[in-house]
Amino acid sequence: MTTSLVFRGALVFDGTGVPPRRVDVAVQGGIIDSVGAAAASAAADIVDLDGLAIAPGFIDVHTHDDRLLLADPSMTPKLSQGVTTVITGNCGISLAPLGGRPAVPPLNLVAGGADAQSAQRFDSFLDYFAALEAHPCSINCAALVGHTTLRVKAMERLDRPADAGEIAAMRAAVAEGLAAGAIGVSTGTYYAPASAATADEICAVFEPLRGTDAVIASHIRDEGDRVLESMTEAMEIAASLGVRQVLSHHKVIGRANFGRSTETLALLDQARRTRDVCLDCYPYAASSTVLRKDAAAQAQRVLIAWSSARPEAAGRTLDELAAEAGLSVDATIDALQPAGAIYFAMDEADVERILAYPETMIGSDGLPHDEFPHPRLWGAFPRVLGHYARRRGLFPLQEAVRRMTALPADRFRLPGRGRIAPGMRADLVVFDPQQVADTATFSQPKTPAAGIRSVYVNGALAWHDGRATGARAGQVIRRPH
Ligand code: ZN
Ligand code: CU
Repeated sequence: MTTSLVFRGALVFDGTGVPPRRVDVAVQGGIIDSVGAAAASAAADIVDLDGLAIAPGFIDVHTHDDRLLLADPSMTPKLSQGVTTVITGNCGISLAPLGGRPAVPPLNLVAGGADAQSAQRFDSFLDYFAALEAHPCSINCAALVGHTTLRVKAMERLDRPADAGEIAAMRAAVAEGLAAGAIGVSTGTYYAPASAATADEICAVFEPLRGTDAVIASHIRDEGDRVLESMTEAMEIAASLGVRQVLSHHKVIGRANFGRSTETLALLDQARRTRDVCLDCYPYAASSTVLRKDAAAQAQRVLIAWSSARPEAAGRTLDELAAEAGLSVDATIDALQPAGAIYFAMDEADVERILAYPETMIGSDGLPHDEFPHPRLWGAFPRVLGHYARRRGLFPLQEAVRRMTALPADRFRLPGRGRIAPGMRADLVVFDPQQVADTATFSQPKTPAAGIRSVYVNGALAWHDGRATGARAGQVIRRPH
């Protein structure tokens, strides 16, 4: 591994949102040593980047990569986009500390369903982080503790709020996760295993966050008709604990709600006067999660992402499958379970308005174990750079980079990441600002980005000219105590 590097001639996007500058960047032992005219030591490798751009490695703030980090340490869907850090455990779903408990949907999105025996399972975050460090992968990770996972672990029946004993068990698990280095927690009250949880339950379970700078990431109860009420509920939970918050994959769902991002963003503006709350977003007008009747009913079109009962259904539309079988849509959904789907149920104007909001970070929300995944898994970051910044002009490139680097590093408190500045970790992406673009589509979802030239993780070259180098320099980023 080269320990001394000088990048020469590139346009440097430093992550803070200022216009790029053509200066040298010198790296020593995995750390950025200097930015400016670098007096390269004789030992340094000179990397000539004339005409290219260099930026801090992208931070994917919303992932379900908990198991992928171990199952496929190449992390190609993310590395190929220039992502050097992922945050796992979103939407209430974390792999740890599920242990041997059943991976009821939506936990099957990370923990595996039928293959629970062979899947990696962990009783604690201490064990999970130890496994990640024993088998390092190509990129860095930081983890959230999922409330739904805690419920499945602590409760025999999920259709009611937790009782005092269950709350105590969940609270102890939160404390364990935070002590092990988890950077915060997440909720997913939209999903059946957590929908009976009250705000009081969630506040009681997350009590260990009080007085810390750990974060709550909230997948709210309803992103459709009751989106404002659901945002308010989530924000009141964070406010009562006095903790920072990220509203996950912000959107408004369903034709009747098209345009209502004006209302949701106005509510956020108001909340931000007194609270530390921000949001993430994936750059597509289609969502994806487990296959559900209510979600299908809100969508114009539904694509099957995977089905355990009928694997050959992946990539086909629900209407087509129903017509072919001569069944109702609901009966078809029953026949496909367990399954996942992609739902076309958003307005593009809302997606652009939310992306353009100054506090919006980029999170892929990619589902890495899907047979026919939503293209956000491989394309979210280059799509923001290529489609939304360069083609649509939603914001300048330096602002797109800020939303993927310094902003998330600050919001999730990832020390030493997200900026090109002396003393920062050498997580770097080299790209062609004119060519960078997503190539993954809803019909060809697993294709790497165009225009990503090389990716360095902690100073090690991990991706170059369309292929992974095999470097495994990724680190577990723990919350500093
Ligand atoms: Zn979610
Ligand atoms: Cu998610």
